[in-house]
Amino acid sequence: MRILVTGGTGYIGSHTVVELINNGYDVVVIDNFSNSKPIVLDKLKEITGKEIKFYEMDLCDSEKLREVFKKEDIDAVIHFAGYKAVGESVSKPLMYYRNNIDSTLSLLEVMSEFNIKKIVFSSSATVYGDPEKLPIKEDAKLSTTNPYGSTKLYIEGILKDLYVSDNTWSIAILRYFNPVGAHKSGLIGEDPNGIPNNLMPYIVKVANKELPSLNIFGNDYDTSDGTGVRDYIHITDLANGHIKAIDYVINNVGIDCYNLGTGTGYSVLEMVNAFKKTNKVEVPYNIVGRRDGDIAACYADPNYAYEKLGFKAEYGLDEMVESAFNYAIKNSKK
Ligand code: UD1
Repeated sequence: MRILVTGGTGYIGSHTVVELINNGYDVVVIDNFSNSKPIVLDKLKEITGKEIKFYEMDLCDSEKLREVFKKEDIDAVIHFAGYKAVGESVSKPLMYYRNNIDSTLSLLEVMSEFNIKKIVFSSSATVYGDPEKLPIKEDAKLSTTNPYGSTKLYIEGILKDLYVSDNTWSIAILRYFNPVGAHKSGLIGEDPNGIPNNLMPYIVKVANKELPSLNIFGNDYDTSDGTGVRDYIHITDLANGHIKAIDYVINNVGIDCYNLGTGTGYSVLEMVNAFKKTNKVEVPYNIVGRRDGDIAACYADPNYAYEKLGFKAEYGLDEMVESAFNYAIKNSKK
């Protein structure tokens, strides 16, 4: 079975490529390196012992994409490619809509032409907006608070319309909670450009003395210690969720959404303390005001993914914070 992975050199994509190869899949990767680096391909080879078949191209370029489908005997697609920075999407909404939606339409059109109708799509728990009930089930009300989130929700809608028009498609929509950590080799991990927006990469840079201190955005939420609570999931678990999903879409038709989370929420302070304790480092922090658009708490009901796909997260908090720091130490630009 040959899987086309769009955005396969990115954070989640690269870890999924490793697990696909570990599970005996053939992989073809497309990326334009808009938020990743060519060296990831060498690292993937080092980890898997396999040369990765790779095309550097923009997914919006349907002509080039057709060439890939002509050359490669693709059975199914995992679609990661897309812009993902919330703040940037607020200042450049048209760029986000153009890129994320155009690339997906181009991909789905070319897949239709080649009669390849099996796809796993990277969505996000961001489509739940400010959840009314915790833990969050897949049938919760959907809403978004920024253009990035809206691109995810619109694409979910496009996939649902596509399935209504042709029910021979097989589509799995994966709603990720908060992926953190890195592959155990320390060769691949999360490598955001510039100052990180997300908690874990920020903690890592503070612990590594690349940034002076962490700003904790609010300690007056209605949570156990007042700081925001999220469902952090180890990136290798998340990658394995894709293996379960691709196995499922290959063997079934239909469309469905699945939460990929652990079901456990940790507060910002719990994350900081776990990081300090496990890695034996200092993480100085200041409590500052709430960040615009943030919610108090967000964690998954992971049961549906378990019942239907057989997916269950295995890694705990220690492995998340340990692997995140291990990658940072091995790849520090200091
Ligand atoms: C963020 C995005 C979400 C996106 C996800 C991708 C926002 C508002 N939401 O989710 O749409 O799908 O990333 O991974 O940006 N925190 C601090 N200090 C920091 C950074 C974060 O205290 O420097 C806190 C936040 O207030 C939050 C928690 O840490 O309580 C997690 O934040 P983050 O890692 O940015 O993820 P989300 O906000 O859940």
